[in-house]
Amino acid sequence: MTSPTQLSVVSQRTSVPAISTLMHLALATPGLISLAAGFVDQQSLPVELAAEEITAILADAREGRRALQYGTTIGDHRLRERLIDLLEQDERVASGTYQACVARTIVTTGSQQLLYLISEALLDPGDIVLVESPTYFVYLGVLETRGVRVVGVDIDEGGLRLDALEATLADLESQGLLNRVKLIYTISEHSNPSGISLAADRRQPLVALAQKWSKHQTVFILEDSAYRGLTFDGVEPPSVWSYDPAGETVILARTFSKTFSPGFKTGYGILPAVLLEPVHRLKGNHDFGSGNFAQVVLERAIGSGGYQRHVAKLVALYRRKRDVMLASLQESFGDGEGAVQWTHPRGGLYVWLSVPKDVDTGPAGLFFSRCLERGVLYVPGTYAYADETGSAPRNHARLCFGVPSEPELVEGARRLALALTDCLNPVA
Ligand SMILES: Cc1ncc(COP(=O)(O)O)c(C=O)c1O
Repeated sequence: MTSPTQLSVVSQRTSVPAISTLMHLALATPGLISLAAGFVDQQSLPVELAAEEITAILADAREGRRALQYGTTIGDHRLRERLIDLLEQDERVASGTYQACVARTIVTTGSQQLLYLISEALLDPGDIVLVESPTYFVYLGVLETRGVRVVGVDIDEGGLRLDALEATLADLESQGLLNRVKLIYTISEHSNPSGISLAADRRQPLVALAQKWSKHQTVFILEDSAYRGLTFDGVEPPSVWSYDPAGETVILARTFSKTFSPGFKTGYGILPAVLLEPVHRLKGNHDFGSGNFAQVVLERAIGSGGYQRHVAKLVALYRRKRDVMLASLQESFGDGEGAVQWTHPRGGLYVWLSVPKDVDTGPAGLFFSRCLERGVLYVPGTYAYADETGSAPRNHARLCFGVPSEPELVEGARRLALALTDCLNPVA
């Protein structure tokens, strides 16, 4: 007789990631157009640039050995310096302005690991995290594992609504729960899933608001800017992080997965000093350092300017795809002013589609199955809500225009519209 396995509480709290079910479906359904996977365009991956840098590294035996050796837990020093240089250019501040931040910059295995480590360092079961409604559903999984309470705050076309955030904090205070609020999570650029960015004029007030409500303990802001750099129209505003010059409130999380290569799985964080050591120690336990080879390649690609040229090409490519996606939705659903609406992202990879309220886009809903029959897949919007009360809307879908070709985007939108017609006019 085999003895029963007693899994840890943490393991038992962790449910099957929603995305793996969708990936299964995508693989098992031939001819399916997947607007679901939040992957990057396959053809755009920087094969030549990576080959150039890798060849140069390995042609120099000393440099090759350095790259092939373990690195440090905090990450390659040269890369961390380059990251700060890039950030200074990105924020349009004088060179050297953020030099002191190199010491608080940690390289992680994708920004996902940083999100995990921050949560592990900061959150106990019963603590409260405020997130945008809707938010990045993979992070909701991390929060579920930590056993924390997740409270959603409404967004509008300017992203997180600060009035709603303040009202939520006041409400939690009146319940005697403000001392459990540890974190506000915001996806500041072209959010996954909504495609919406936090308005420039909300960024400084958001920092002020977090500081005002840090009455019992610091309420940190976790600024996830995974899609920064992929802006198609206009200029990117200063980050939320830039409004916290003392470096006490905002944690900045960034990644090269979207702007370079997810295969490198390299991200980084700039942390408030009090979080650096705890996160560093936890990372020591996780892996005592992210892949060194990828870091050395990236450092060179940034240093040569190849990375920056690659991002410029990506922006042009995704701008075109975004335009095709929006035009196809208009072609299939009309002007977008009626019962079916969608966001008009200025960057990133996602459009957030809203269908009539009585059409259930959830994984067990009619729209989802009709879409599968018609051969198109999306991410059900329900995955992206922290739904404490069971009242989250069920009529949204996340559409990613990163992977499909332009003809597939056109056809995908057409199939979505056909599936909606199936739902609205069911055969008797
Ligand atoms: C909003 C957001 N944050 C973080 C990540 C994590 O990406 P990575 O771990 O590859 O850097 C993603 C990936 O899709 C994302 O969409």
